[in-house]
Amino acid sequence: MLCGGKKPYFAVAVCIVTLTSMVTLSYLRLQRLSYLPKIIQEGSRCRGRITYSTITPLKDNRTFIISAYFDNRESKVTRVIGIVHHAEVKELYCWFCCQDDRKMYVSKATIDVHSDRFGFPYGAADIICLEPEGCDPTHVSVHQSPHGNIDQLPRFEIKNRKTETFSADFTVCISTMFGNYNNVLQFIQSMEMYKILGVQKVVIYKNNCSHLMEKVLKFYVEEGTVEIIPWPINSHLKVSSKWLFMQDGTHIGYYGQITALNDCIYRNMRRSRFVLLNDADEIILPLKHSDWKTMMSSLQQQHPRAGVFLFENHIFPETVSTHMFNISSWNTVPGVNILQHVHREPDRQDVINPRKMIIDPRKVIQTSVHSVLRAYADSVYVPMDVALIYHCRVPLQGHLPREALIRDTTLWRYNSSLITNVNKVLYQTVL
Ligand SMILES: *[C@@H]1O[C@H](CO)[C@@H](O)[C@H](O)[C@H]1NC(C)=O
Ligand SMILES: *[C@@H]1O[C@H](CO)[C@@H](O)[C@H](O)[C@H]1NC(C)=O
Ligand SMILES: *[C@@H]1O[C@H](CO)[C@@H](O)[C@H](O)[C@H]1NC(C)=O
Ligand SMILES: *[C@@H]1O[C@H](CO)[C@@H](O)[C@H](O)[C@H]1NC(C)=O
Repeated sequence: MLCGGKKPYFAVAVCIVTLTSMVTLSYLRLQRLSYLPKIIQEGSRCRGRITYSTITPLKDNRTFIISAYFDNRESKVTRVIGIVHHAEVKELYCWFCCQDDRKMYVSKATIDVHSDRFGFPYGAADIICLEPEGCDPTHVSVHQSPHGNIDQLPRFEIKNRKTETFSADFTVCISTMFGNYNNVLQFIQSMEMYKILGVQKVVIYKNNCSHLMEKVLKFYVEEGTVEIIPWPINSHLKVSSKWLFMQDGTHIGYYGQITALNDCIYRNMRRSRFVLLNDADEIILPLKHSDWKTMMSSLQQQHPRAGVFLFENHIFPETVSTHMFNISSWNTVPGVNILQHVHREPDRQDVINPRKMIIDPRKVIQTSVHSVLRAYADSVYVPMDVALIYHCRVPLQGHLPREALIRDTTLWRYNSSLITNVNKVLYQTVL
């Protein structure tokens, strides 16, 4: 007898444990089965219109699709980066059409809303679907139901299917340029500093900017440095310009910055060795090395298990200037001349300096703004004597007199090539 014997208590315990595990296991098996792709149609051709817009609302008006990416780091899945209402979107399905065997498959999606929603009702989400075993679908549709007519659904290309050779060592992701952005001089200086330090590509999620800025962006796109991702998020959702929800009826924080950053990581996973996640007014400035490449190979040697490198942000107030590098031809260009701002605010006892990151995109699953949420590698705090983030903006400690700030002229090391390069761009664009 399986459930009898001389030690009744022991036997009962064993029985309960056995039965519970059997029930749990079969439940888990059923659960897993429900996520497996199922054939819903055979002998069909792949139809439906392919969508190229960056933000596509689904019929529920609660789900917005950004892009789909192939991801086989754990199992063979399609990972769709999207924006969803955290409570109202409960079920989604991926529809795969396989050209070769003329079959249509539907997989139930796992919806993983990122934890860093900061109170807003909408947040970045990974919509993850198991792919059919025998086929490598090139496109996917997403729908609230496993039934319906696929011809009516927008189809998204599944990117990252093919292995590529790296076209960049360093890619900077600038999330959400908005609010009639017109800080032209500082933008050009940042771009030229990135190029001096080793960037090949700058990806900009552009909501809105000034006419003059459009001209500058056009120049950099033609040069091959900038890639623009249109980001018309305010056509779909009420956006806040704050990161924290203020109970003001807005839907999503900081123009959807977090979704843009996550999309940028996957977009560059196969083409860039490293990805930098920082704003246009921030420059990761090495102190011991002359560029990012030598700095990163040294950091990687010291931390072979790391894939995320965090750099401390330091504020150089645009309200405190020096007379050095007051270049008269630049005074007609709107924006800040960073070479004139070399005083940084001291650390505060009770405030932690936020950090920005250089990551190996292949090691990251989900990112937030100042750290990653999920990754396959360690995060490392890079000390101040190796690099800092030069961040020129309005002061955070505006009450401090000039004498209380720290004079830090690290940026000036690059003055001569920076001035030459900035002049070249200015004369071809706005001057
Ligand atoms: C979705 O939004 C559109 C335009 O804002 C509106 O016309 C439509 O009725 C909405 N649909 C639902 C289901 O809320
Ligand atoms: C950009 O947004 C501002 C409001 O923030 C608006 O006044 C302006 O017209 C917009 N510009 C463009 C080109 O859409
Ligand atoms: C820069 O020079 C102009 C005159 O060419 C002067 O008006 C301005 O005050 C100077 N700015 C600084 C910060 O030195
Ligand atoms: C500007 O750069 C040049 C050449 O690298 C250097 O010799 C000079 O000291 C720098 N100027 C300042 C003020 O740091």
